[in-house]
Amino acid sequence: MLERPYEAYVYAYPHKTAYRPLEPKPLLADVWRGEERDALSFYTHVPFCEVRCGFCNLFTRTGAPESLTVAYLDALERQAIAVRAALDESGPAPRFANAAIGGGTPTYLSPDELSRLFDIAEKVMGVGLGAVPLSVEASPATATPDRLAVLAGRGTTRLSLGVQSFDDGEARSAVRPQKAGDVFAALDAVRASGIPVLNVDLIYGIEGQSRESWLGSLRTALRWLPEEIYLYPLYVRPLTGLGRLRVDQDAAWDAQRLDLYRAGRDFLLESGYEQVSMRMFRRLDAPVVEGGEDYTCQTDGMIGLGCGARSYTSSLHYSFDYAVSASEVRGIIDAYVGAGDFSRAEVGYRLDGEEKARRFLIQSLLQAEGLAAGEAGEAVEAVERFGGEMEALRARGFLESGAGMLGEAGAAGAAALDGRLRLSAEGLAWSDAVGPMFFSEAVRAAMRAYELK
Ligand SMILES: C[S@@+](CC[C@H](N)C(=O)[O-])C[C@H]1O[C@@H](n2cnc3c(N)ncnc32)[C@H](O)[C@@H]1O
Ligand code: SF4
Repeated sequence: MLERPYEAYVYAYPHKTAYRPLEPKPLLADVWRGEERDALSFYTHVPFCEVRCGFCNLFTRTGAPESLTVAYLDALERQAIAVRAALDESGPAPRFANAAIGGGTPTYLSPDELSRLFDIAEKVMGVGLGAVPLSVEASPATATPDRLAVLAGRGTTRLSLGVQSFDDGEARSAVRPQKAGDVFAALDAVRASGIPVLNVDLIYGIEGQSRESWLGSLRTALRWLPEEIYLYPLYVRPLTGLGRLRVDQDAAWDAQRLDLYRAGRDFLLESGYEQVSMRMFRRLDAPVVEGGEDYTCQTDGMIGLGCGARSYTSSLHYSFDYAVSASEVRGIIDAYVGAGDFSRAEVGYRLDGEEKARRFLIQSLLQAEGLAAGEAGEAVEAVERFGGEMEALRARGFLESGAGMLGEAGAAGAAALDGRLRLSAEGLAWSDAVGPMFFSEAVRAAMRAYELK
C-alpha cells in the first residue's frame, strides 16, 4: 500500500479487466428496468487511429479501410436502435445530460462519416446535440478544418487534442510520430472553429525529457490559452510498442515523473489555472459552457455505443470484450461489425453495496475538491468503512490537515471537517496509488487473473 506513486490510472472502477462474461447474458431491457434515466451520459467509442503510439494501450487499431469504417457505423446504428428499443421497453424515454465521442481517434472518420455518427446519436438515441455538453477527442493530424467544421456545426462544446509533447525528439522517443508544426496548425484550426473549450493532453516521464523541456511544452501550450490541460504521467504497459522496448519501471523513473508533475502543476497554478484532479487543470477564466452545469454532476448512468464502450446502470457495468494486442483488437472489432443482435449485455461486473461505496469514494476522493459539502454523510460513512486506509493516508500526510483528526476521532473527526474529506497536495500527486487502495479483493483478483491470461 502506497509504496510506488504510479500503480494505476483509476478512471473507472471497476476496471474493464475485472469484467467477466455474464452468464446468462441479460436482456438490456431487463438491465435498465427500474433504472433512473433522466440524466444519462452518452458515449461513443471509435476504435481507429492513423498510427499506433508506442505508449498507448487504448482499444484501437490502425489502417482501417473505408469499408471497415462504414461497416462500423452500420453496426453502431444497429446497436443504437437496439439500445433505444430496450430503454423504451423498460421505462420512460431517456434524457441525456452530456455526450462524448472518444477513441482511438474519432476524427479518423471522414467529415461525412462524422455527420452520420452525429445523426445516430441525435435521431436514433435522442441525444439533444446543441443542448448538452459534447466532447470529442482528436489527434493533430486529423483535426482538420473540414472535420472541425462538422464538429462545431453539430454542437461540440469541447475538443480534446492529444499533443503529448511539442518537442519532436520527445515525440519520437514516445513513439508518437508527429511534428510540432502540424500540432501548431491543428491548434490554430481548433481555435478558428469556434468550439468553446480546447483541452490539450500532455505526457511527462518520457525518456530524455527534462524539467526544462517539459516546462517548454507547457509554455508552448499556453500560447493557445487552452481552457483545460491534462497532464498524464507516462505509463508503459505490456503489449504496447514501448512495453517491448523499455522495461525500466524503476525508482529513478518514479522520481522523474513526480518531479515533472510538481513542476508542471506549480507552473499551471502560477499561470491562471486551477487543479481539478491529479491530471486535470482548468483555466480560471474559462467560459462556462451552456448546459455545462450537468457536466460534473453525478449522472444516472451511462449508455456506451461501440465495441470498446462501457455502459453503467446503478448496479451493472457492462461492455463487449476487451483487448490490447493488435490481433485480438482486430478480432473484436470484426465480431462487433458482424453482429446482428445487440439486445443483451455481454461481459460486465455487478456492483453490490460495498462496491458502490468503493466506487463513490474513489471518484470523489481523487477530485481536488474531495467529498463535497453536501456529501458529509458519505464522508463519515467512508471513514467508518475504510478506517484502515484513511489512517494510512493520514499517516503519510496525504489528507488535508483538518483530516488529521480522523485517526484519533474517527467519524467524529470527519464530521468536524466542515463536511469535506480531501487529499492534500501530496496526496493528489499520489492519486494513482491512492485509488487502487480502495479496490476490493474480488476486483483485484479478477484484474490479476486477466493479466496472467
Ligand atoms: C484517446 S487519446 C487522445 C486522442 C488521440 N487519439 C490522440 O492521441 O491524439 C487519450 C489520451 O490518453 C493519454 N495516454 C494514453 N496512453 C497513455 C500512457 N500509456 N501513458 C500516459 N498517457 C497516456 C494521452 O495523453 C492521450 O492523448
Ligand atoms: S494515443 Fe491516440 S493516436 Fe495514439 S494510438 Fe492511442 S488513441 Fe491512437
